[in-house]
Amino acid sequence: MCGIVGAVSGRNIVPVLVQGLQRLEYRGYDSCGVAVHAGGLQRARTTSRVADLLAQVQEDHIEGLTGIAHTRWATHGAPAVHNAHPHFSHGPGADAATARPGRIALVHNGIIENHETLREALQAKGYVFVSQTDTEVIAHLIDSHYDGDLFEAVKATVKQLHGAYAIAAICRDEPHRVVGARAGSPLILGVGKEQGENFLASDAMALAGVTDQIVYLEEGDVVDIQPGKYWIVDRAHKPVTRPVRTVQAHSGAAELGPYRHYMQKEIFEQPRAIADTLEGVEGIVPELFDGISSDGTPGAAAWRVFKEIDKVLILACGTSYYSGCTAKYWLESIAKIPTQVEIASEYRYRESVPDPKTLVVTISQSGETADTLAALKHARSLGMEHTLTICNVATSAMVRECKLAYITRAGAEIGVASTKAFTTQLAGLFLLTLALAQSRGLLNQDDEARYLKEMRHLPVALQSVLALEPQIISWSEDFARKENALFLGRGLHFPIALEGALKLKEVTYIHAEAYAAGELKHGPLALVTSEMPVVAVAPNDALLEKLKSNLQEVRARGGVLYVLADGDTRIESSEGMHVIRMPGHYGALSPLLHVVPLQLLAYHTACARGTDVDKPRNLAKSVTVE
Ligand code: M6R
Repeated sequence: MCGIVGAVSGRNIVPVLVQGLQRLEYRGYDSCGVAVHAGGLQRARTTSRVADLLAQVQEDHIEGLTGIAHTRWATHGAPAVHNAHPHFSHGPGADAATARPGRIALVHNGIIENHETLREALQAKGYVFVSQTDTEVIAHLIDSHYDGDLFEAVKATVKQLHGAYAIAAICRDEPHRVVGARAGSPLILGVGKEQGENFLASDAMALAGVTDQIVYLEEGDVVDIQPGKYWIVDRAHKPVTRPVRTVQAHSGAAELGPYRHYMQKEIFEQPRAIADTLEGVEGIVPELFDGISSDGTPGAAAWRVFKEIDKVLILACGTSYYSGCTAKYWLESIAKIPTQVEIASEYRYRESVPDPKTLVVTISQSGETADTLAALKHARSLGMEHTLTICNVATSAMVRECKLAYITRAGAEIGVASTKAFTTQLAGLFLLTLALAQSRGLLNQDDEARYLKEMRHLPVALQSVLALEPQIISWSEDFARKENALFLGRGLHFPIALEGALKLKEVTYIHAEAYAAGELKHGPLALVTSEMPVVAVAPNDALLEKLKSNLQEVRARGGVLYVLADGDTRIESSEGMHVIRMPGHYGALSPLLHVVPLQLLAYHTACARGTDVDKPRNLAKSVTVE
């Protein structure tokens, strides 16, 4: 899930390309590079961050009116300079040993599944490969089809590609042209406002401040941009007109303010993010979930859909999957609606039993996660047409693909570890639970008023949990010295334990596992020693006494407990038992509070271990490949 930017302009476009890359680093940061037409083709590549690429292009005086740039999340081939994009074609007779530029330069996001077959065929023709990437075959293929027209060469090339791709290519022999194509990976066209500029990018965010006139390219489209003009053809290579939309993309370049990292800032933004997400919610009405139509006309009506469905299927990945797992407890206990939660990458490939009376709910911060989008399409292909998304990006593919939507207002989340997106998703999912309960005649006015009051009080309650930060910092000093940790929860808080373990492993690289506390004696208890810190989420709910017994099982084996206990429990600190006292029990909404100390624990442990908190190794913010 790499990031792509391309441009044609009447000015030196390198600063715009590099700035675009900076905004796309959330898609991967294993390496980055830029290529421009400057008489011939020139490029700079690095396995350092985009800031270093900028220094390199300045030092090497790389300038040009036409160019492409890329930030990489490695799939095929290690994160090394020779695997970094842009890739050059090395046609028969090319001097690959010195990597002298060939005729084509190319950037690619996605995975070419038939790259091995293509590689063999190209090698047989004398093409020389200098990387381990699947991408290089595309550059060579374009070169092999090139006969004076880059657009035609790309059209011929994409017919041979199996898999997912968004590409942008430039040609040594055509100085004012960039050609792109997409299938399975996102690509947008930015219509420039001055100097006849036009752009291609993975995301409108890359072009913030440059243009807000965006065309969302569709599956199979091939696009040709030149100064002052562009063309698009569809998958059948017939000319098409796609609507130009005005998109107020956020640059993502939020100030850190008093915070050391975006993750910390985003944890502390949660009271505001929840307040914004709930703004304008005066009562529980299905209209909260009505569809968003791109042309301003009303979208699908939620009330009609809610009447037609009798079960819920939630599809999501990672942290978003855990918010779905939490919502299952709400949907089944409050709205009494059978709910299935599936990891999107599993659901899309397994044989399941479809039911057209299902509400398919996708959950996604980015709205671009490839597995979730594919799972959604799979569900639709099985005849399940009632689709709803809980999503943080109103302009995303997920919102465009679903009939109904609730847009969370977490604001741009920059840290790779999802924090405020999770709690705002939970807020959206709780509203969905109430709306479904109401449409099924299960929510009386008193309950509605009580739940709304509790939701509105969440920002204040979250502030009191954030005030526990100094105590969490003292726990993090213990965790920083460990290599393993266990997380326990029960019921509604089991998914919170799972999310706590994911946060810890993601940013600290400590191996962390989460279990439903009742499962401990069925296996994981064997792991417990004095070297194994065990974090327990202990709300004062109906399962508290059961959980306390599980904690005793840990203590009896010498395990050291770190317990997040509601203020109204009687769990006290003692030998081997560290307790942080949360506010009093917050009922059904308690998961939104209990997850916050776990986010802080991961954050401060990562700081103590000196990891790259906002860009942890091997990861990317937006996972747009399968
Ligand atoms: O954008 P999405 O919510 O669809 O992303 C899903 C996961 O990739 C994401 O939640 C990931 O697990 C986070 N890095 C976890 O902190």
